[in-house]
Amino acid sequence: ARLVVLVSGSGSNLQALLDATADPAYGARVVAVGADREGTLGAERAARAGVPTFVDVVKDYPTRDEWDAALTAHVAQHQPDLVISAGFLKLVGKHFLTAFGDRYINTHNALLPAFPGIHGPRDALAYGVKIAGATLFFVDAGVDTGPIIAQCSVPVLDDDTEETLTERIKDAERRQLVEQVGRLVREGWTITDRKVTIP
Ligand code: GRF
Repeated sequence: ARLVVLVSGSGSNLQALLDATADPAYGARVVAVGADREGTLGAERAARAGVPTFVDVVKDYPTRDEWDAALTAHVAQHQPDLVISAGFLKLVGKHFLTAFGDRYINTHNALLPAFPGIHGPRDALAYGVKIAGATLFFVDAGVDTGPIIAQCSVPVLDDDTEETLTERIKDAERRQLVEQVGRLVREGWTITDRKVTIP
């Protein structure tokens, strides 16, 4: 299967996928990596692995809609079976969701529907929850609202800081991403009434 991965930052989730896909038995390979800004460590990791990269910066386009159309076209060029947002900090629009809505997944560093948005671990810590984690889901038109594929949990410790909790979550998150992407590409999936089924 062909994976296109979208990143905005450090790309440690991307790296976990690059490492996993090095084994042909995994059943997928990363055919391209896209970013919404120049100079990401994620794009550097892709280049190091010999994977082609592209960048679509919102402000390089007259409108958000045109950016969305360009991003959609760039992803489509690589004919992905699955598109993975791995720390990609932009919400895609209607062009993208029309093209990839049934095969675009995102990993979020909180147990949805709690703590959507960009500060999952910070918000979880501030709320005082005792269990945190990560959620893998199919992206829909909302913010972190789509059908859930899998969740994993980690404890929140009394002496946690945002940094220590974030790292504990990311560690579990990367393992979940690799495991679930492997299942999806090898076995396929259906989505009915928000329920994701992997046969
Ligand atoms: C992940 O924890 C993801 O949930 C959040 O940003 C982080 C991306 O990390 N949205 P990385 O760029 O894959 O290292």
